Amino acid sequence: MSLSTVGDTKNAENATENAKVALTVNGRVRQLELDPRTSLLDALREHLHLTGTKKGCDHGQCGACTVLINGRRINSCLTLAVMHADDEIVTIEGLGSPDALHPMQAAFVLRDGFQCGYCTPGQICSAIGMLAEAKAGWPSHATADVAAQTTALTDAEIRERMSGNICRCAAYPNIIAAIRDVAEGDRG
Ligand code: FES
Ligand code: FES
Repeated sequence: MSLSTVGDTKNAENATENAKVALTVNGRVRQLELDPRTSLLDALREHLHLTGTKKGCDHGQCGACTVLINGRRINSCLTLAVMHADDEIVTIEGLGSPDALHPMQAAFVLRDGFQCGYCTPGQICSAIGMLAEAKAGWPSHATADVAAQTTALTDAEIRERMSGNICRCAAYPNIIAAIRDVAEGDRG
C-alpha cells in the first residue's frame, strides 16, 4: 500500500458525518447541518453569522463568547452546538435593538462601560446571567455568609462574580458602575 493510500484510508476513517440540529436562537428556530465537533460559538458566528458573540481565547479563559442558555451564562466556546437542540439560546443580538436597548445595554452606554467594545457583548450577557444567579441566592467566593438567602451586590461581589470576563481595555470601573445601576434598579 502506498503512503498516500494509507493517508486516504486514515482520512476516510477520521471523517465525521455532519449532524442535523435545530437551534433556537433569539426566539427563532434555525436548522443547521454541522460537524458534530462544532462549538456553539462557531455555530453562532460562522454558520448563523451572529457575530456579536466574540471569540477571544477560544478555550474558556476570557468570557468574550458568553451567551445565555435557558437564562444561564455559558462560555459558548466550551460547549458543542449539537448539545443545545432543546435549549433557548440568547445572544447579544437577542437582548435588545438600537431603538430598544436592554436595561443592561443602556447602562453600559450611560456609564461608558467599554472602550474598544470587543469584550462588551460577553460582559453584558454575563452580567445579566450573574444578576439572576445573585437573585436566586447563589453565593460567590466573595460572599461572607454562604448560608444567607440574599447577598448584597457590593462592588467586591460584582468584581468576583464577573471575574470570568476579561477586558483588555480595563474598563472595569465603568462596567461595575453599569452593573450596579441595573442591580439597584432591580431592587427598587
Ligand atoms: S472565547 Fe470563550 S472564553 Fe474566551
Ligand atoms: S472594552 Fe476593549 S476589551 Fe473590553
